Amino acid sequence: MKVSVSILKEKNNYKEAIDKINNTSADYIHLDIMDGTFTKSSSFELSKFKNISNKKYDIHLMSTNLDQLINESIKLNPEYITFHIESTKDIIKYINLIKENNIKVGLAINPKTKLYKLKKYINLIDLVLVMSVTPGEGGQLFKVSTIKKIRKLREKYKDITISVDGGINKETCALVSNYVDIVVSGSYITDSDDYDSKINELRVNH
Ligand code: DX5
Ligand code: ZN
Repeated sequence: MKVSVSILKEKNNYKEAIDKINNTSADYIHLDIMDGTFTKSSSFELSKFKNISNKKYDIHLMSTNLDQLINESIKLNPEYITFHIESTKDIIKYINLIKENNIKVGLAINPKTKLYKLKKYINLIDLVLVMSVTPGEGGQLFKVSTIKKIRKLREKYKDITISVDGGINKETCALVSNYVDIVVSGSYITDSDDYDSKINELRVNH
């Protein structure tokens, strides 16, 4: 199981947070990009993240402004660029744009979005990011209904990479860790003085 650390709660101290993550066993830095088009809140500008980390980025776009943000994301050469299935009608166009640049592509689904919506795209993508909170803020409570959804997704599609995002701590991680490949965790790690010990606690059963 890989751990991707969200720095959303450290919006105002993102550089310090990234320095700390650089010295941990984290696999990726999860960048939550919001511009007020898909969520009420806004977060970061992608250009700020050039050359400031030794970890690969896992970019989560929560926006309808995908032409611009995918092009900006590509410049950071991330491991994944993930966008929301609810955010556009041109899903295949954006999947192709990301793939043409040799970057892995993810589709994110909101807590209320049904799994059958993925069917058309599942063979074209690398990752499904299952939201376990409503997009917008760090530090929200994990929605328990996500567990069933992730189990079903794993049963249906054995080979797809599954990531879970929102409210992940030691306890909620243990509820889904048998079925996912990547956990995204933010405040549980970044509210702590010792990032690495929190990351290790998430990995404890794996
Ligand atoms: C929510 C974001 C998540 C979230 C993770 O809009 O996509 O990545 O901030 O943070 P925690 O772990 O604090 O829920
Ligand atoms: Zn996220």
